Amino acid sequence: MTGVVVAIDGPAGTGKSSVSKGLARSLGARYLDTGAMYRIVTLAVLRAGVDPADGEAVASVASTVRLSVSYDPDSDRCYLGAEDVSVEIRGDEVTRAVSAVSSVPAVRARLVALQRDMAQGPGSVVVEGRDIGTVVLPDAPVKIFLTASAETRARRRNDQNVASGLPDDYDGVLADVRRRDHLDSTRAVSPLRTAPDAVVVDTSDMTEAQVIAHLLELVRQKSGAVR
Ligand code: DC
Repeated sequence: MTGVVVAIDGPAGTGKSSVSKGLARSLGARYLDTGAMYRIVTLAVLRAGVDPADGEAVASVASTVRLSVSYDPDSDRCYLGAEDVSVEIRGDEVTRAVSAVSSVPAVRARLVALQRDMAQGPGSVVVEGRDIGTVVLPDAPVKIFLTASAETRARRRNDQNVASGLPDDYDGVLADVRRRDHLDSTRAVSPLRTAPDAVVVDTSDMTEAQVIAHLLELVRQKSGAVR
C-alpha cells in the first residue's frame, strides 16, 4: 500500500486537532501539528525578549531556532532545542503572541519548508493547520476544510475554559472568536481560506466520532489507500 497525504485546515474550535489525531490513529498514519510549530517559534521569540510585533527581530529569532515535534498522534510532544515545551506552548502568553509571529513572512517561509520535508516519507500522514491545502501541500490528494459556526466554536471553547477553572464568559469568548476569524482571514500572508478542491465539513452538529467516520469515508473515496 502506498501512503496517503491528508491536509486538514480550518479555524480554531472546529475540533480540528482531536479529529486529525483520531483520523491519523484510524489510518495508522503519522500526524503533524503545524500550529505547534508556530507556537514553538513564538515561545523562542518571547524567551529572547523580542517584541512579537517587531517582524525583523522575530524573523531573526526564527532563522536560528531549533524545533521538533513528534509524529505520534498519541503523544504529541514538542521540543525547543532539547527541552520539552509541550505544555508551555499551550499557555496564554504564547496563545496571545502567536498570531503576530505567524504573520511574519520569513517565519512562514522557514516553517512551510520544514513542513514539506516532514510530510514526506513512507506511509500515510495527516497534516493539520491553516494553509496546508492551499500553500504547504497543494498537491495533497485529500484536502479537508473543517468549519463550525462562530457560536458553536465559542461555546466549545467556553466549556473548555470553565472545565479548566476559568470564568464562564461566553460573550467575551464569542467576541474573541470573531476577532480572530477576521484577523486570520484578512492577513496579507497565507490568509485562512478554503482550497478550491477541499471538501468542506461543518462540524457544528456532529460529534467527534461522527466527524472522524465521515473523514475516513472521504479518504477511502479519494484515495482507496486505507488499510
Ligand atoms: O492551531 P493552533 O491554535 O495551535 O495554531 C496556532 C497559531 O498558528 C494560530 O494563530 C494560527 C497559526 N497557524 C498558521 O498560521 N498556520 C498554520 N499552518 C498553523 C497555525
